Amino acid sequence: MTEEKLKELLSSMTVEEKIGQLVQLTGDFFIDEGIATGPMEWLSINEDQVKCTGSILSTVGAKKLKDLQDRYMAINPHHIPLIFMADVINGYRTVFPIPLGQGCTFNPELVEEMASVAAKESARAGIHVTFSPMVDLVRDARWGRVMESTGEDVYLNARMSSAAVKGYQGSSIGDKDKISACIKHFAAYGAPVAGRDYNQVELSERTLKEEYLPAYKAGVDAGARMVMTSFNTLGKLPCTANEDLMKKTLREEWGFDGVLISDWAAIKELVFHSVAENDEEAAYLGIKAGVDIDMVTNVYINNLKKLIDEGRVPMQWLDDCAYRVLAYKNELGLFENPYKDADEDYDGKVDSEHMAFARKAAPESFVLLKNEGMLPIPTKATNDCGSVAFIGPYMNETNICGSWTIFNNNDDNITLEQALKERNPEISYVIEPGCKTLAAGQHFVGFQSKFDNPLTEAEQESMMEKAVKAASEADRVVMAIGEFNQMTGEGASRTEITIPEHQLELFRRVAMVNDNIIVVNFSGRPLDIREINKKAKAILQVWYPGTVAGYAVMDVLFGDAAPSGRLSMSFPYNVGQVPVYYSELHTGRYAEDPENRFTSKYMDAPNDPLFVFGYGLDYTDYEYSNLRISSNTISENSPIKVSVDVKNVGWRDGKEVVQLYIQDMVGSVARPLRQLKAFDKVDIKAGETKTIDFTITTDMLKFYDVNMNYVAEPGEFKVYVGRDSKASLCESFRL
Ligand code: BGC
Repeated sequence: MTEEKLKELLSSMTVEEKIGQLVQLTGDFFIDEGIATGPMEWLSINEDQVKCTGSILSTVGAKKLKDLQDRYMAINPHHIPLIFMADVINGYRTVFPIPLGQGCTFNPELVEEMASVAAKESARAGIHVTFSPMVDLVRDARWGRVMESTGEDVYLNARMSSAAVKGYQGSSIGDKDKISACIKHFAAYGAPVAGRDYNQVELSERTLKEEYLPAYKAGVDAGARMVMTSFNTLGKLPCTANEDLMKKTLREEWGFDGVLISDWAAIKELVFHSVAENDEEAAYLGIKAGVDIDMVTNVYINNLKKLIDEGRVPMQWLDDCAYRVLAYKNELGLFENPYKDADEDYDGKVDSEHMAFARKAAPESFVLLKNEGMLPIPTKATNDCGSVAFIGPYMNETNICGSWTIFNNNDDNITLEQALKERNPEISYVIEPGCKTLAAGQHFVGFQSKFDNPLTEAEQESMMEKAVKAASEADRVVMAIGEFNQMTGEGASRTEITIPEHQLELFRRVAMVNDNIIVVNFSGRPLDIREINKKAKAILQVWYPGTVAGYAVMDVLFGDAAPSGRLSMSFPYNVGQVPVYYSELHTGRYAEDPENRFTSKYMDAPNDPLFVFGYGLDYTDYEYSNLRISSNTISENSPIKVSVDVKNVGWRDGKEVVQLYIQDMVGSVARPLRQLKAFDKVDIKAGETKTIDFTITTDMLKFYDVNMNYVAEPGEFKVYVGRDSKASLCESFRL
């Protein structure tokens, strides 16, 4: 539709119809026989209002959505199509590793490809918009939603944000098999005080701009057509009512002209935040901040008309919001083809090409934290290591996709046990889970359902005994353990970030009878794994790998694939250190001198995390040498080239993540110890040496100076290149 026609459409709409475009409901309102009365009563809205709704969330399925679209368009006064939105987080039917694991791939092209696959599967299921990527910077592992982020680093997050947007949207959201991305949660939702979900956020303006905003901006720059506001307050003002952030930063400074949606009921929550006296006031604050769509409440629908009639909300505000929503529908091509790519023949089927791709992709998210000659497991064909006992509840757990995969089919999920049996490796092995992911008798309130473990203590004990016996008779033990997936995600903050106690108990008992333990750890956050680290000889961190978890884990355990992930978030030593991250400031009392009480340190724990950001082993090893820079001075027009030689000194080909960090030695405000500024994931064959080149520009040296100007200040800089954030090869240059 032309812009002119779209404007004509807007001007022919009543105020009620325009308000309708700003309302998002769930699919429950639209039933085969018409409009459901139950949800209407619950939301105190009437049938005419439902007929004007602009979009629907969380309803999927090609046939279902086509029918719904037909029925809705027939009753909508101007026959305007609905937009269908949903949370497709790490895949639709084919589920990929959780976003935190995707961050560990350090492979933006791979992340783009995963998003592109997710886009195709969701587009065919009738979806037009996904509420993804979540690009909130995260540094507090107590927060359950760290699993939805790509981690603690500013630069890595920005790269992944942009990659995901490109994958979902391609060059246009109207194209076949493309959907719109939605950057969320704007802003700083990832820094709740004490890691408690929905809690307030306190950040200095400098930290917000320098560290938290770049990933949102990168998504907007990559062309994201939707942004979602966040639940939290920032400096005591709820973001959903923060005009400065929504209008000045997002729209004026960043030039975002897409649609801004509230998070679930976030406009109504302005009342609970105590910044609005009632729903009417909340509606006023929401629209004043420029929030276009109210997600699932009646706050806009029941209050905007009155506010307009009274002259408090100018008609122009409503027109602007409604026009943006109509223009979005137009960009998606819905006026010409309201079903977009919904395809009953494709939807609901497993796409074997996608599954094969997921199997190849997952090992790139696995981080090998420790390996004392245990992995890969040799078979009789190579170098028989004797018998292996496969223990732990994750051997036959089917919840292996993370807690935000509401549309995948659990029956598609390949457990470790199934994959092991199909592989039938040339070793002698037994499988004894030993317990379930939840403890005996445990009742657990999950994300959309409740979970129970009906086992009695006695039954669990008997399972454990069998597993311990198997461990005592085996030469090696693989223990697949970890957090139950619902212990992570929204509303899943924890103060003890450990593996559930009954599983630890199993681990301890196994460790008493067998020294050769390989732990495969499933979790949605970095955990305190000190005890495991002490007793296990190998630790493979696999997060939640997705639909083909079993295949991917077995591929890595038996060496068909190598783990090439590097930590996107530091693994703390203990919870008391949290938030712990590599790019911290020096402090005035930095040196960790045990003889000097008055330095910045803990009495009972080191300052360093157990495993640092960027860390991860491979099945081969690398040597770095010959770091060189093209010049010792840099200027705006003369960037410098940094080169390093990386040799694969091991016995097999590998994928190394070469990381470049910069330290600004003196600034007008305190500068971080170092910051990741570039990385390259490269294939290096056994015995081969590759020269990796990076370019440093003055843009990479910029920060908010003492006057809040974004500048690179003259002075000395150090550049470190290496395997992780502790890289020690170093050169220096001056600006
Ligand atoms: C979450 C969002 C999500 C929305 C819609 C909210 O509770 O915070 O991330 O997109 O629900 O499902």
